[in-house]
Amino acid sequence: MQIASILITGANRGIGYELVRQLAAANPSPDFIYAGCRNPDGADKLKELAQKHPNVKILKIAIGDESSYQTAVQQVSQDIGDRGLNVLFNNAGILTNRKFHEVTAEEMRKDYEVDTIGPLMLTKAFYPLLKKAADSSQVKGLSCTRAAVLNMTSGLGLINSNTSGGFYPYRPAKIALNMITKSMSIDFKSDGIMAVIIDPGWVSTDMGGKNASATPSQCVDGILSVMAKLGEEENGKVKKWNGQTMEY
Ligand SMILES: NC(=O)c1ccc[n+]([C@@H]2O[C@H](COP(=O)([O-])OP(=O)(O)OC[C@H]3O[C@@H](n4cnc5c(N)ncnc54)[C@H](OP(=O)(O)O)[C@@H]3O)[C@@H](O)[C@H]2O)c1
Repeated sequence: MQIASILITGANRGIGYELVRQLAAANPSPDFIYAGCRNPDGADKLKELAQKHPNVKILKIAIGDESSYQTAVQQVSQDIGDRGLNVLFNNAGILTNRKFHEVTAEEMRKDYEVDTIGPLMLTKAFYPLLKKAADSSQVKGLSCTRAAVLNMTSGLGLINSNTSGGFYPYRPAKIALNMITKSMSIDFKSDGIMAVIIDPGWVSTDMGGKNASATPSQCVDGILSVMAKLGEEENGKVKKWNGQTMEY
């Protein structure tokens, strides 16, 4: 897959870190891999990776703190200028698991802040750079090589897959993100920018726990294969890490 530049949020651990690690090791590797995290000083694994791979650039992006988005946009602009940013991967997320009688309004707001509003506002901030990538690309149509927004959902955020209830803050926050992505896929199309919902499956990270069915390495291997094949047909769809297209 030929991607010149990609930004991944929540890149200091879990699936986000593994995305950066595999992209840095890929051949060809993107010219710029921006690893967003809220605490760069404490991101030791990322710092090690950036020392080994000069195309890995660590950026402070704290989801919910919009001033950090603007600073990040300026930093990326200085590097890539008119070439623009090809892929924005909104990966950072939190999962609050609360039952009906436990959930509080504050918990609802917190998950929406990180899982829904953050990806929308960060995409707004980076939109001019995504548009520059689409405009300056030699490639026509929709693809990650040209320009794409990828938003990480969850199987828990698919209405048809809800057979167990609960997860009051998390499920609706991801469902709202899915709807936002669908609207983006319509609104961005004429600018040559694709928007796709990625479902990583159940992955053994801090969030997914030890009993998960896939390792971060297996999941990311699958996501990168899926990304390479994304095109017009997949715009606005939910693509699972194993290539399956899911119902909302
Ligand atoms: N693991 C699974 O089974 C699974 C299943 C379905 C969907 N997902 C989705 O996949 C994505 C990645 O999950 P994961 O399993 O890798 O989770 P994880 O191991 O818990 O990592 C979450 C990442 O998001 C970052 N993050 C959280 N809040 C943030 C904020 N306000 N600002 C910036 N970064 C923030 C974390 O940074 P800090 O270290 O600073 O907290 C961390 O880098 C999430 O969107 C999640 O909902 C995961």
